[in-house]
Amino acid sequence: MHEDTQRITDIILKAASKARRETRDESKKQHAGKPLRWPIECTIGPGLEGAIACESKIGYVDGSKGWLVYRGYDIFDLCAYSSYEEVSYLLLHGSLPTPEQLDDYKKKLIEYRYLNKTLRLLMGFPVEEMNAMGALRMGTILMRQEFTYKDQESGRPGLDDAISTDEDSIPMETQPAGEKKAIYEFNAARKARRKRKKMRGDASGLEACYHLLAGVPTITAAISRVRQGHMAIEPDPKLSHAGNFLYMMTGKRPTPVQERIMDVALILHADHGMNASTFASMVVASTLSDIYFSIGSGIAALSGPLHGGANEQVLHTLKKIGSPENVSPWVQSAGKKKKKISGFGHRVYKAYDPRARVLGPLAGHRIRSCPEEIVNLYETANELEKRVLRTFGREKKIFPNVDFYSGIVYSRLGIDPSMFTPIFAVSRVAGWTARVLEYLQKNRIFRPRAMYSGEFEREYVSLEDR
Ligand code: SDX
Repeated sequence: MHEDTQRITDIILKAASKARRETRDESKKQHAGKPLRWPIECTIGPGLEGAIACESKIGYVDGSKGWLVYRGYDIFDLCAYSSYEEVSYLLLHGSLPTPEQLDDYKKKLIEYRYLNKTLRLLMGFPVEEMNAMGALRMGTILMRQEFTYKDQESGRPGLDDAISTDEDSIPMETQPAGEKKAIYEFNAARKARRKRKKMRGDASGLEACYHLLAGVPTITAAISRVRQGHMAIEPDPKLSHAGNFLYMMTGKRPTPVQERIMDVALILHADHGMNASTFASMVVASTLSDIYFSIGSGIAALSGPLHGGANEQVLHTLKKIGSPENVSPWVQSAGKKKKKISGFGHRVYKAYDPRARVLGPLAGHRIRSCPEEIVNLYETANELEKRVLRTFGREKKIFPNVDFYSGIVYSRLGIDPSMFTPIFAVSRVAGWTARVLEYLQKNRIFRPRAMYSGEFEREYVSLEDR
């Protein structure tokens, strides 16, 4: 392992031992070890707090100990020793892949990264003016189009519609020949290189999950490039999932350390119990809608500032505070206004979010080598963490969550804040698809109740008499 990337592993292992030291006395919550026998009793608060929606073997969050487990593996071990390819395979299939399984899986992800027709459809929309998560959601619907065309072969445009049909061609922006607009030409050479196998499976099976796991990064990167005024970049089959994603986002092949940091960030965000976006995906899937619509619902739920949208909000907060010196008065005033500070608090964690325990040191890794603006962001974040914990955090059990430091990590990788939440989706598509597939094994449509506190037996009064 590259000695610099070993440094990243050391940071993770140090965070792990600190976490275990600090939470060893916390009582281990009785987590379900035995299969549930429905119906069950649980105390439910507003927002379904405490409700048990289903049984799962995919992941576990112990909020009092600040533990996160994927299929029985501790998140710190997975960050230290695994990769996003292995972890997403683990979440979907239940065990770490053998070398052959991993090789086959990687080949499939590499194949499904190519979404030329989908990107061409997407680029027909004003993506640069759209909300990034809105564009991403639309991209997943267009990905489904691939199956729709496949489902209705006759619906596929004829060969003479060059622009929309030729899925193996790449619109290459050439030097404008004196005209304002780019002149697109199709690079026939690519055709010879990549004969896409017909997409196997239907729009709700495992293949569709692989398609989304590989395609969501491609669409996210294309959206990012267009928002920067550039064309989308074709995937590089030689790079890892994280490395290729960073390459397609930034146009530069990442250093081993940058690739490792992105890989750890993707592992950390991959799954997290029955969070709002996972639940949204499952609710849609439980109607036997298909996986593309279900993941589109997960993307929509994740975009909210109380959920995945918080990582972008944190950057805005840090920039608004401006410097470590301004933190104390800002926290005082936020406390008085009972303002929810982005990047803090959690429905489940009443201890330090283990993901923040890794992302924090990664944000600060060799910080002195960063531009002054990033150093200031990091120092302001550090001071904000200290102040919040001292003012009301520890007492109210409000700690930094996964979104608090992730934005600084992404900024250091050259990523614009508007793309932070889509990156969360790039990772979480693993947890969404895994939990949807698991739930569909014993599907029952989600249909909770509402307590009706309205009136009864009101007499109808016609319009003239109102
Ligand atoms: C994610 O569910 C998941 O697992 C989500 C996630 C995942 O991986 O999928 O972990 C990702 O969404 C992380 C959370 C990102 N969101 C934010 O950082 C936004 C700021 N956080 C808060 O909005 C809040 O903490 C929530 C939404 C995360 C949790 O809200 P809850 O569980 O409904 O808590 P609450 O609003 O009932 O607050 C309880 C108390 C209140 O004080 P009192 O009214 O009891 O006096 O805690 C206070 C709140 O005011 N509080 C905060 C606070 N969060 C809670 N006070 C200040 N700042 C905060 N951030």
